[in-house]
Amino acid sequence: MTSFERLNAYAEQKLAQLEASGQRRSLTETAREAGGRAVRAGSHVISFCDNDYLSLSHDPRVMQAAADAALKFGAGSGGSRLITGNHPLNSALEARLAALKGTEGARVFGSGFLANLGTIPALVGKGDTIVMDELAHACMHGGARLSGAEMRLFRHNDVADAARLLEGAPGQALLLTETVFSMDGDVAPLSELGVLAERTGAWLMTDDAHGLGITKQDNPAQIQMGTLSKAVGGYGGYVCGPAALMELLTSRARSFVYTTGLPPSVLAAAIASLDIIQAEPERTAKARRHAALFCELMGLPVPSSVIVPIIIGPEAEAMRVSGALLERGYLVTAIRPPTVPAGTARLRVTFASGHEEADIRAFAGALKDIMEQACAVTL
Ligand SMILES: Cc1ncc(COP(=O)(O)O)c(C=O)c1O
Repeated sequence: MTSFERLNAYAEQKLAQLEASGQRRSLTETAREAGGRAVRAGSHVISFCDNDYLSLSHDPRVMQAAADAALKFGAGSGGSRLITGNHPLNSALEARLAALKGTEGARVFGSGFLANLGTIPALVGKGDTIVMDELAHACMHGGARLSGAEMRLFRHNDVADAARLLEGAPGQALLLTETVFSMDGDVAPLSELGVLAERTGAWLMTDDAHGLGITKQDNPAQIQMGTLSKAVGGYGGYVCGPAALMELLTSRARSFVYTTGLPPSVLAAAIASLDIIQAEPERTAKARRHAALFCELMGLPVPSSVIVPIIIGPEAEAMRVSGALLERGYLVTAIRPPTVPAGTARLRVTFASGHEEADIRAFAGALKDIMEQACAVTL
């Protein structure tokens, strides 16, 4: 066998294993449009599963800002930020983010994933301890693993359990959580975690990927990261915090140092979006109203964000409900383990300001219909 053939055989065998365990993933072409609409594999659908919560990815002002910047400054940044990729729009965006979060400074990263991968190992290392919510996103786990610090997971949102794990923790402790949990839509007890961090000398770092533009929580965390790819509607990640820490990241966050700066068009779009988020709070209110209306129609508790999980349990059943929704023109992909814990396959339903009330009512009606037909599934 040639090396090429052995590589192919290796990949085929791994794929067969993934297929057998129901974990093989595949791509479907999806062209998103305004108003929560999309063309999915050639069919027109209304999407209830994207993260463009304020529908800013298709706001004409944001699109224009991106287009203008591309025409004026070029399509790419040409290098890492430490070489030639530090276009002035970076510092303009960082100033905007720091003001929004009330911190001394901010650093823009290539993505939220990269921000976590680079920041956590810049804060702690071998001999230190990370105490992290068990439902924290894969990129927090990734950053924690890369750091070499000892990792301890506390039960979801359980401050007493976090306190127990911080006791006698070796080295510097870093307490990690999300502000709004990506797969459940619930919020972290930030003020209690802040008090705990202060009492124990731990540093508190939060991931606000799903909170920015959606929730208004007081956040005592010294380190606040997030993304520009969800409610902000574009791409990129950021970390906000003390000025000296921002300087440290500039030198020590490997996912900052050794990667290309964001294109000017992406930076300009983010700035335009942040302006709109601040000037038009009604967008946030509308997205949240949609989530609340859906929950009311479905008999679910009042949501804390615009993410509403419908936990189905068996993977096959979640896939079936998702498929039935798609037949009716609604896109809600099923989320399966290992993205969520085993036995909790779900529909992660999300709402946006671009939806209309009639969309929510029709969607809830269709989902109820489908769920009623499936006796195995109860809300
Ligand atoms: C909680 C959380 N953190 C970080 C990320 C990564 O952000 P980005 O998509 O900008 O890489 C995501 C996105 O999937 C997320 O849900």
